[in-house]
Amino acid sequence: MYLNYFGLSDNPFSIAPNPDYLYMSPRHKEALAHLTFGLRESGGFVMLTGEVGTGKTTVSRKLLQQLPDNTQVAMILNPTLSALELLATVCDELGIAYSGPQASLKYFTDLILGKLAANHQAGINTVLMVDEAQHLLPEVLEQLRLLTNLETNREKLLKVVLIGQPELQQLLKRNELRQLAQRITARYHLLPLTSLEVKAYIAHRLSVAHGDVSIFSQSTLKAVHQITGGIPRVINLLCDRALTLSFTKQHAVVKKPIFFAAAEQILGEDVVRQRLHSQRKWHLIGVFLLAIGCGYGLGSLYV
Ligand SMILES: Nc1ncnc2c1ncn2[C@@H]1O[C@H](COP(=O)(O)OP(=O)(O)OP(=O)(O)O)[C@@H](O)[C@H]1O
Ligand SMILES: [Mg+2]
Repeated sequence: MYLNYFGLSDNPFSIAPNPDYLYMSPRHKEALAHLTFGLRESGGFVMLTGEVGTGKTTVSRKLLQQLPDNTQVAMILNPTLSALELLATVCDELGIAYSGPQASLKYFTDLILGKLAANHQAGINTVLMVDEAQHLLPEVLEQLRLLTNLETNREKLLKVVLIGQPELQQLLKRNELRQLAQRITARYHLLPLTSLEVKAYIAHRLSVAHGDVSIFSQSTLKAVHQITGGIPRVINLLCDRALTLSFTKQHAVVKKPIFFAAAEQILGEDVVRQRLHSQRKWHLIGVFLLAIGCGYGLGSLYV
């Protein structure tokens, strides 16, 4: 391993969700603020979407840590369930005892509504969090909506946090789910990191592992954004491989060619070539537009 060579105490780019490495970029902070605000509102649903690997699950874990003590949370991590299985899982998560043979949608719903009312009486807020919610079937989502129907004059007794990839937004546009869509009081779409945020992200992860961002040259840091599109999980994978390759070649600083080689190993040559090409294309379009703008400006001076 490269740890000793680079003076690191730990693997800075592991993809394990270690909270020590959490970097709250402005986007991640904003996402967290939206969810926190949404849960305080009276409505039933809040939603966090984002491309694969942008940090949705990471943000949801942070949200869990921040919820007030008087909150009981039910987590659904694998939502490829039928409506009946979903309700049974909610019962498991909320510690509700049930007997298998009587199981029906009504049986489970009554048990859960009873628990929500009891929690409310005891001053406990109940939150249901569903990760990977893009996999939920429309009828299961509708069942979730029915659970949020129980409400006092002021608020819903169950708040639901839906977290998922962009397909979740498409799913909620379906006609049969419009009632649920109307009940979403806060939504946030987590975008990838910007070029500056990528640098700060890498610097942060290295500093937690007692390393320094100068392990990567400045031009490599730029290239990381270019090739990964600012997706944290991809940044981790490529930076880890780049450190391994640099160590093998005994280069104390990760330079661009090593980083590109690492990217080709993980993403494939085609993908890397394509991303470099599209970046160059935009650069040329920018130069072209600038030239037209300058020409127009100069021309108007002489008219
Ligand atoms: N804000 C962050 N700070 C530190 N590491 C992060 C952050 N966001 C993402 N990561 C890293 O990227 C990895 C992927 O993040 P996460 O699992 O939260 O993404 P996701 O959006 O839930 O992905 P998926 O769409 O596959 O469910 C994490 O394991 C972590 O290593
Ligand atoms: Mg996730």
